[in-house]
Amino acid sequence: MLRKFTTLYRHIIDEERKYPEATGELSDLLADIALACKIISLEVNRAGLIDLMGITGNENVHGEQVKKLDEYAHDTLVRAMEVSGHLCAIASEESENFIPVKEKFMGNRPMSKYIIHFDPLDGSSNIDANISIGTIFSIYKRVSDSGPGTLEDCLQCGTKQVAAGYVIYGSSTIMVYTTGRGVHGFTLDPTVGEFLLFYENIQIPKRSKTYSINEGNYSKWNQELKNYVDDLKSVDSSRRRPYSARYVGSLVADFHRNLLYGGIFMYPGDSKNPNGKLRLLYEANPLAFIIEQAGGRASDGKERILDVVPLDLHQKTPLFIGSEEDVLELERFLSN
Ligand code: AHG
Ligand code: MN
Ligand code: MN
Repeated sequence: MLRKFTTLYRHIIDEERKYPEATGELSDLLADIALACKIISLEVNRAGLIDLMGITGNENVHGEQVKKLDEYAHDTLVRAMEVSGHLCAIASEESENFIPVKEKFMGNRPMSKYIIHFDPLDGSSNIDANISIGTIFSIYKRVSDSGPGTLEDCLQCGTKQVAAGYVIYGSSTIMVYTTGRGVHGFTLDPTVGEFLLFYENIQIPKRSKTYSINEGNYSKWNQELKNYVDDLKSVDSSRRRPYSARYVGSLVADFHRNLLYGGIFMYPGDSKNPNGKLRLLYEANPLAFIIEQAGGRASDGKERILDVVPLDLHQKTPLFIGSEEDVLELERFLSN
């Protein structure tokens, strides 16, 4: 049976039509992001051939080695977003400060009413090993009146997101997005250069049998987290124990697998890094919006991720995200 031939753009327009007041700007912006990610996907797949492997020798604001593809993905997205005309500010994991964008006018109507956060390339330590990596993005409406965007525009609670998504560059290139009406997945058909609808209204299983965490950090965890992970590994078939361990070390790859099959992903704070490693704006918030739309849960162990008030562009947060019942159980263990 022929699968419904729905392109990403057709889906975005159909979604837009459900909002009578929509101006089409968000649809255009999502299409611009998809185009930028198609270009990144091309380079990711050719990286080894055109010397885009390896490191630049620079360090980013997080003190991490910047890979050539990190820089390439960041530059590609910034260029695409600056000309879209729909943004007043861009905040990137790879850029210390946010990038204010000059206002554009269409007729007498000012555009640039959105801001975007992105992790241009997630999982970049895995690039040279040909392991799946990805781009994560999050879109908000500006809060300032006009002109180039401000820091206040960039520091909004995750609940204010109007859209979020990711693109995973793996055995195929898949884009998953939400505008608050369900989570939808599209697979890039490279022969026609279109993202085609593959999963509509993705719902994550309420409980799973899979957990994802870097157990190399076990000695640095608090006792409550050790108790939880030890419990996951105990033998108790009535509670589906032992769970299976699945950890790629590339957040987008671990998240995408858990979204489709069920699972709990954990990047906790520990004795060395109390707030963990992942960034609230560029990783936790967009994925939290997506997981809640898919019927899952995302918290920092105590508070809902989307309620965390951002105080800094590069703020880190512990992240526990995935199947609702598993995250709730984890929270009970942490509160003991
Ligand atoms: P990024 O490549 O954007 O810096 O993100 C890397 C993150 C995330 O992708 C992954 O879940 C995590 O780093 C893995 O960290 P560890 O190697 O410490 O487990
Ligand atoms: Mn990342
Ligand atoms: Mn990154």
